[in-house]
Amino acid sequence: MPTVWGTTRVLGVIGWPVRHSFSPPMHNAALEALGLDYVYVPFEVRPADLRAAVDGFRAAGVVGINATIPHKQALLELVDEATPEAELTGTVNTVHFTAERTVGDSTDGPGFVAGLAARGYDVAGREVVLLGAGGSARAVGVSLARAGAGRVTLANRTAARAEAVAALLNERVRPGVARTVAWEGDGLTAALEAAELVVQTTSVGMHPRADELPLELPALRPGAWVVDIVYNPFETRFLRAAAARGATVLNGVEMLVYQGALSLARWTGCEPPIERMREVLVAELRKRAEAG
Ligand code: ATR
Repeated sequence: MPTVWGTTRVLGVIGWPVRHSFSPPMHNAALEALGLDYVYVPFEVRPADLRAAVDGFRAAGVVGINATIPHKQALLELVDEATPEAELTGTVNTVHFTAERTVGDSTDGPGFVAGLAARGYDVAGREVVLLGAGGSARAVGVSLARAGAGRVTLANRTAARAEAVAALLNERVRPGVARTVAWEGDGLTAALEAAELVVQTTSVGMHPRADELPLELPALRPGAWVVDIVYNPFETRFLRAAAARGATVLNGVEMLVYQGALSLARWTGCEPPIERMREVLVAELRKRAEAG
């Protein structure tokens, strides 16, 4: 644990509940590695108390806050300024309290893109298939489109949700960047066969239903990358199937590390110690998995 002094500045995460959050160990390890006089603490905030909590953080000189379920949407209304990612996704996972104003950001999608970039994968111009249409798909889709993805083909069990995300991307980010195909059928098979990047954002295959597969993968394009944003288990059945078809695969740990790294960079202006953050996160995830 970091030593707390009279000078120590405060960061934290709000959620209801918040005890499941991996952010405190990951951020405190990062702050320690950087030698910064900050501490990162969990705050369990009831939805009805969110406004009071934000006012309190501001009044008490808290520097920054991450938000998890269920506060991400409501926070958007409580900040003075929203970044394009926050505004477009309608969510805030990072708040920065500056002397002038309170800024809300959403680092989930940018974290996804940054995780790929760190591996040398540039999404610009790419043919992408995005599976799912929940909050995660919206964040990833917005950031892919903003980062210049060539085309994003969305498929979701409930077609109307995929259409809503596609409309957001086409109307607010870039006309023609997104289209939808039916969840099951030849359209999706053809899109998967042609994809350079496949991103799995549904909750299928997540612990405790790790034996489930969202869909059967067809043959993939040579050189294709497949990302599953699930991080528990580390390797989903979907990722194993993708690896067996020759794809380069990446799990959800990267997005989790980089969304945190982007928040930390915003609050402190420092270059985040990625390796250390990943090491702590993976250790915590392993502990959690062993505990069942
Ligand atoms: P998040 O905000 O984490 O993305 P979410 O909004 O609950 O979570 O979205 C979960 C995603 O997993 C959705 O795309 C959901 O599909 P629906 O929109 O049809 O509900 C998808 N999903 C969950 N269970 C599924 C299943 N058994 N088969 C296919 N998709 C599933």
